[in-house]
Amino acid sequence: MKILLTTTSFQDTPGEHHNVLEDSGYEVVKARGPLTEQQLFDLLKEHKGFDGLLNGDDAITAKFIDACLAGEPKLKVIAKYGIGLDSIDVEHATKNKIPVLFTPGVNDVTVAEQAIGMMIAIAKDFYPHMRDVKNGQWNRRTGMELFGKTIGIVGLGRIGKQIALRCNSFGMKAIAYDPYFDEKFAKEHNVVRREINELLKEADMVTLHTGANEQTIGMINKNSLALMKDGAILIDTARGTLIVEEDVAEACKSGKLRGYAGDVLVHEPIQTPHIFQDIDNIIITPHISSRTNESVQRQGVRAAKNIVNFLEGNDDYIQANKF
Ligand SMILES: NC(=O)c1ccc[n+]([C@@H]2O[C@H](COP(=O)([O-])OP(=O)(O)OC[C@H]3O[C@@H](n4cnc5c(N)ncnc54)[C@H](O)[C@@H]3O)[C@@H](O)[C@H]2O)c1
Repeated sequence: MKILLTTTSFQDTPGEHHNVLEDSGYEVVKARGPLTEQQLFDLLKEHKGFDGLLNGDDAITAKFIDACLAGEPKLKVIAKYGIGLDSIDVEHATKNKIPVLFTPGVNDVTVAEQAIGMMIAIAKDFYPHMRDVKNGQWNRRTGMELFGKTIGIVGLGRIGKQIALRCNSFGMKAIAYDPYFDEKFAKEHNVVRREINELLKEADMVTLHTGANEQTIGMINKNSLALMKDGAILIDTARGTLIVEEDVAEACKSGKLRGYAGDVLVHEPIQTPHIFQDIDNIIITPHISSRTNESVQRQGVRAAKNIVNFLEGNDDYIQANKF
């Protein structure tokens, strides 16, 4: 069996997940993603075909899937290292009876910790303070407490729920929007249901935890920002495409938003010059929310077991596209 492995956090973090692949005895072709469609085609041309893909956020398009199906060996499975499937043409994979495996429930704590960290960083102006002190300057700005504030959670799924639990301990009020709202969890953990526009109007901090789909792409734009409180904080650790970057940049420059913290961009890696680069109250990290030693190993083991088990005919794997 031959696997194409493209995720860099899997490759760069030591741990048990490497053993799962090694023990399989499969040939593993390594590349450093996220890869464009063209880069994937180049690899396919060089290696003729793959039984499986163990991928991160590479452009697994319909065209590439078709080419892999014509490869030697022929593609049998796509195993996403992660939960967001927006970079894979899942519909096309399903049409061709190619299982798309994924790793839900392994990184929710780690991503929630990142979002909370980012919220505090914006509330206390960490970035300009740290930069100034490193430059020998002692400029002190006045921050904002989290206690007593309202957090608006968009997407009360696995990560959104971990945010709610943590915000309870900060003495914050949690409100959430989710079309598939978990009433039981909300009741047990003091989360109040809101429609999206109500949430935007009421929250002091808005944090995005939904996948990218037709309903959510571009959901934070000029119009939705106008509904938000003056001086609100916006956090996006989910997908860059959920926001219109130009509109968020404008809102941060004008002071409409106190600040924006994102772990994701519309185009990754960053393409420079980028509109966010010179705005002090915008901080961006390079898609590392789920990248901790603990989380990478959980996610890596799950992803590696998914692909190996599937190819071995063992049914311990998690499939996103049931058919
Ligand atoms: N930055 C990172 O490293 C990183 C890591 C993990 C996940 N993510 C992103 O975070 C997202 C959430 O992850 P999760 O594990 O909590 O997923 P999840 O599937 O458990 O939760 C997503 C929630 O969004 C809800 N939802 C669907 N449509 C919605 C809409 N229109 N508006 C609001 N909510 C909607 C769903 O009902 C679900 O409850 C993923 O889809 C992924 O894109 C990013």
